[in-house]
Amino acid sequence: MNHDLYLITGATGDTGGAAITALLSKGARVRALVHRDDARASALRARDVEVVVGDLLDSRAVQAALQGVTGAYFVYPVTQARLIDATAYFAHAAKLAGVRSIVNMSQISAKVDAQSEAALAHWYGERVFDWAGIPVTHLRPTFFMEWLTYGFQLPSIANDDLLRVPAASGRHAPIAAVDQGRVISSVLLDPAPHAGKTYPLFGAEEMDHEELAQAVGRALGRPIRYEAESLESFEARLAQLGLPEHFIQHIVSVYRAYQAGEFAGTNDIVEQITGQKPMQVRDYVIANLQLFQPEVVE
Ligand SMILES: NC(=O)c1ccc[n+]([C@@H]2O[C@H](COP(=O)([O-])OP(=O)(O)OC[C@H]3O[C@@H](n4cnc5c(N)ncnc54)[C@H](OP(=O)(O)O)[C@@H]3O)[C@@H](O)[C@H]2O)c1
Repeated sequence: MNHDLYLITGATGDTGGAAITALLSKGARVRALVHRDDARASALRARDVEVVVGDLLDSRAVQAALQGVTGAYFVYPVTQARLIDATAYFAHAAKLAGVRSIVNMSQISAKVDAQSEAALAHWYGERVFDWAGIPVTHLRPTFFMEWLTYGFQLPSIANDDLLRVPAASGRHAPIAAVDQGRVISSVLLDPAPHAGKTYPLFGAEEMDHEELAQAVGRALGRPIRYEAESLESFEARLAQLGLPEHFIQHIVSVYRAYQAGEFAGTNDIVEQITGQKPMQVRDYVIANLQLFQPEVVE
């Protein structure tokens, strides 16, 4: 009998949730670290997932969560500061527990000289795992497909048929969490070929925001218009939405990087690792049609 056990953090979030679905579909045993014991945690228990409740900034809780674990997915919310602290606690606990491999969620803009505090922290977070000496695979995705559904963007698409962000004429190939979940699962189940690797992850089709708006519009059956917002207007809008300062500093900085081409590119890594091509924008929107209907409350 296989006693392997996989710890998934961010289990109620987009990529953690997708990784759990992918692991369960392969018959793997999963332990989920959830931040809050709510209906989402109960839903995981109902799927035979072992649920532990804890904070990634609580080193003792992290040590307990990693006990007896074979491989682990580490993801920390970009809305919060202290990613490097959380990474150090996790790396230390994983060493103590003799964990075989870690998949670390980073991002394409992780650089030693990144302007975004969060992107800079991702770069140092990668190094913390490297220095810990545990086999690790770093994921560096471009903007997620889920970006379309975030609170600073979805209401204007749904209510005003308007995609309005400071993307200028930058390009990216949006990647869905479901595809990343399959990558995470595949790497955890067979870590050796991926140990020490850093994977930039892209979706199926690279496009600018004119093309993105058109693709969303075609899927919705109504035209969606793109309007290039200024960084200043965007920053003021985010502040008005009451978003955390750390997050605002991050996304304003990454849109600046986006405009300079840092999020562009494509590759076939998702298909190579999972055997499946990543999802297209059209398929994602159709799979989530109800989200894009009018009357989303801002
Ligand atoms: N979005 C993008 O376009 C993009 C692109 C590249 C890289 N990334 C990276 O992807 C990561 C985010 O992944 P995601 O979108 O899958 O995450 P997500 O959907 O935002 O989910 C975050 C998860 O972390 C949990 N959480 C929050 N604070 C926690 C804490 N202190 N301790 C333990 N758990 C906590 C949340 O639980 P609650 O809901 O209960 O708070 C939630 O389950 C970030 O590191 C970001 O830099 C994102």
